[in-house]
Amino acid sequence: MAKLFETAIKYLPLQLAIFIPKVQMKEQNTYILAIESSCDDTSAAVLLNEKVLSNVVATQKIHEEYGGVVPELASRAHQQNIVPVVHTALNKANIGKKDLSAIAFTSGPGLLGSLLVGTSFAKSLALGLRIPLIEVNHMQAHILAHFIEDEGQNKPSFPFLAMTISGGHTQIIRVDDFFDMTVIGETIDDAVGEAFDKSAKILGLPYPGGPLIDRYAREGNPKAFSFPKPKVGGLNFSFSGLKTSILYFVQKHQKEDPSFVEQHLKDICASIQHTIVNILIDKLKKASKETGIKQIAIGGGVSANSGIRDALKEGEKKYGWKTYIPKFEYTTDNAAMIGITGYLKYLENNFSSQGVTAKARFKV
Ligand code: KG4
Ligand code: ZN
Repeated sequence: MAKLFETAIKYLPLQLAIFIPKVQMKEQNTYILAIESSCDDTSAAVLLNEKVLSNVVATQKIHEEYGGVVPELASRAHQQNIVPVVHTALNKANIGKKDLSAIAFTSGPGLLGSLLVGTSFAKSLALGLRIPLIEVNHMQAHILAHFIEDEGQNKPSFPFLAMTISGGHTQIIRVDDFFDMTVIGETIDDAVGEAFDKSAKILGLPYPGGPLIDRYAREGNPKAFSFPKPKVGGLNFSFSGLKTSILYFVQKHQKEDPSFVEQHLKDICASIQHTIVNILIDKLKKASKETGIKQIAIGGGVSANSGIRDALKEGEKKYGWKTYIPKFEYTTDNAAMIGITGYLKYLENNFSSQGVTAKARFKV
């Protein structure tokens, strides 16, 4: 094969020869070490081209007792976790630092103190190993997680709509190419994961309450109670009004019967979930209609929600959608998604300098 390339380069016109390095690169084994530290998960992954060899996530439990992420505690925990997490990721992938082709890391958006830990670590390691450094936008990575090579997982083709739903983000993005993305709708206040978590808190459930609401909702009646849907224009979302109406609803009923929540927990959870899922699906329907795009990919921790998964499947039958949901480990915050994005940038020789900085805000 190498001989063939040599002969080809010798006789090809210059214009064509320029493209040869890319082809060669793709045939090579590219090992990317990826680092994610944008919020409260410290994660490191190793990818061999599009395949994940390891994906280690250290979830910070410390925030549970505060009912939400405490930024200062998050950055301290990242500092403690980052070395062992990277070490474990390399061991699990069964490779050494000298085998690495490049280091990809999340430079934003996220909590600045948390991002700084991963950014400084990645910059130092790349400098020490004299290998390329690749900055990755966390939101792009949630979407590009769909391109991880994985058995039984189909990849969307361009153009498609991506909906990122998590504790930190709620967006609908039109994706025309790997790095050609346009936000066409987003939340104007709380993220959808926050809506789940804050509702759960009102009901006295521990943080993060999203998975618990989902669990109780499965056994409840989604039409038992109704909550108002926000009136937000275009493809944008709003969840803060819903949270307030749930608070007033609970306060009103608890005044009459202090055991109201306990007695009706499953029905309340099912009704809250039904309302949130309807808000998301309504905007997706509108986005699909306006753009004429029927391929829909989701990402972010809330993608685990059974209500949203069922509603998307129903959308396939009702509206002819083709929907894509990545494996759970690649939907929540993880470094494997940073790795695939880093690999796609590596193929384009899109590297960062040592001057790259962490950024709390970073548009896709
Ligand atoms: O992507 P993620 O792990 O972290 C970021 O926020 O970036 O998402 C976490 C969010 C939390 O708000 C959590 O409550 C929510 O995802 N979540 C769920 C479910 N699983 C996780 N919300 C509803 N239903 C679930 N099954
Ligand atoms: Zn995220």
